[in-house]
Amino acid sequence: MRHKLLAPPPPGSSLEPIYGSGDPGLVELLRTFHNPLAMITKRRAQFGDISYVNAFGLKFVTPLTADGAEAVAMNRGQALANEPAWGFLIGPFFHRGILLMDFEEHHHHRRILQQAFTAPRLKDYLGAMQPLIRDRVAALPTGDGVRLLVEFKKLTLDVALEVFLGLRLPRAEADRVNHAFIACVDAGMSLVRKDIPGSKWARGLAGRRALEEFFREHLPAKRARRTPDLFSVLCHVEFEGQAFADEDIVNHMIFMLMAAHDTTTITLTTMAYYLARHPEWQDQARAQSLAMAPGLGDGALDYDALGELTVLDAVMREALRLNSPVPGLARRAVRDTEICGSFVPKGAYVTATPMASHYDPSLWTSPEHFDPDRFSPERAEDKRHRFAWMPFGGGVHKCIGMYFAQLEVKTVMHHLLRGYEWSVPAEYRWKLDNTTLPVPKDRLPVTLRAR
Ligand code: HEM
Repeated sequence: MRHKLLAPPPPGSSLEPIYGSGDPGLVELLRTFHNPLAMITKRRAQFGDISYVNAFGLKFVTPLTADGAEAVAMNRGQALANEPAWGFLIGPFFHRGILLMDFEEHHHHRRILQQAFTAPRLKDYLGAMQPLIRDRVAALPTGDGVRLLVEFKKLTLDVALEVFLGLRLPRAEADRVNHAFIACVDAGMSLVRKDIPGSKWARGLAGRRALEEFFREHLPAKRARRTPDLFSVLCHVEFEGQAFADEDIVNHMIFMLMAAHDTTTITLTTMAYYLARHPEWQDQARAQSLAMAPGLGDGALDYDALGELTVLDAVMREALRLNSPVPGLARRAVRDTEICGSFVPKGAYVTATPMASHYDPSLWTSPEHFDPDRFSPERAEDKRHRFAWMPFGGGVHKCIGMYFAQLEVKTVMHHLLRGYEWSVPAEYRWKLDNTTLPVPKDRLPVTLRAR
């Protein structure tokens, strides 16, 4: 077993050195794509709680404990920056998005952006998405082999276009926007990171250009009139007299549409998968949804009613634990620093992976099992450490759309449970494609029947 040193700690310091295997980046990356959990377990056994991996020609320090994740996310010494790390991964496609900003500038933008996610705004967004989701869920295809990932992806994009942009686009244009986003997201994790014609990278750059044009074209109308969608809200929000310039709005919209789209799609798909494999949980969640809002007929939910769907809430948390849509928080050390007593040299890349916390056997009972009851007040396994459950990250970059995402996911699931039953064969186990964000390779085919 090889142990290669990342960098020697400064002479006289009590900090521990960090080791990795020194295997070529491509080999390590392919192993991780193949089975990330196996990689985490192996690395823990080989190198302990912190080590580094080679990827994309760089060395990424990866703490594998909740303490380590906390140190990265909270970044108390401000020695870790987002832009040089996220910028490397997705910068050409999502530059100037808020996740790619740091320190003072991030703080400034975040305070303005936060105004678009207050409780009254969330209520407005929920009001706008409610009828759309209900109608779209009612129109789902039924029968065998319905690929729920594909259906959820179309649905969440339509929600994003309506709630974020306040636009009902013709299908062809919605598809064009969708393709541009997918191209940008796929390019971020591409192994070939050059603008070679026909490559994922080149398609990502073209996608970015298409999105910029799209948002610039619609911006004047949004500036001119206040409407309840996020695009218009961003044109008008301010904090202590500070507002966004046109370019900021385009950049934030592109980043946020991306941040919202695949993450909610993956959450829905994971919930659907586990509910298909555990019909007793599907029945329990459905019973609460059917009991909700009696007399309303169409099952419309209001903001407060969502909080009463406790079974669905636990299932959602468990799905986010088992298959976290964002596999890592990427950072880069802007000066020499330490993580849990180990020396991290200036320039090192760092990534905290939710999966390491979410499957840590010292925090969770049988972490590989689907067990939503672990979130019950009696068991509260998620409370065993502040970063035991961290699908939305933490610290100053903690997901700004966390509540929005939960409203959307629960609303879709609520309507799905009321209108349908779904199943997979007893022996079915999904296989995840981890090359970008974790999605089932077969797109999750289920048998979907109207109730
Ligand atoms: C279940 C769905 C979602 C998950 C699991 C998720 C996860 C995350 C994570 C882990 C981060 C932090 C990344 C880091 O620190 O490196 C993050 C940041 C962010 N998310 Fe989400 N997200 C979700 C949905 C959304 C939605 C719906 C929106 C927009 C409405 C959104 C907007 C953002 C933004 C703007 C940031 C950057 C915040 C900042 O840097 O200050 N996310 N998200």
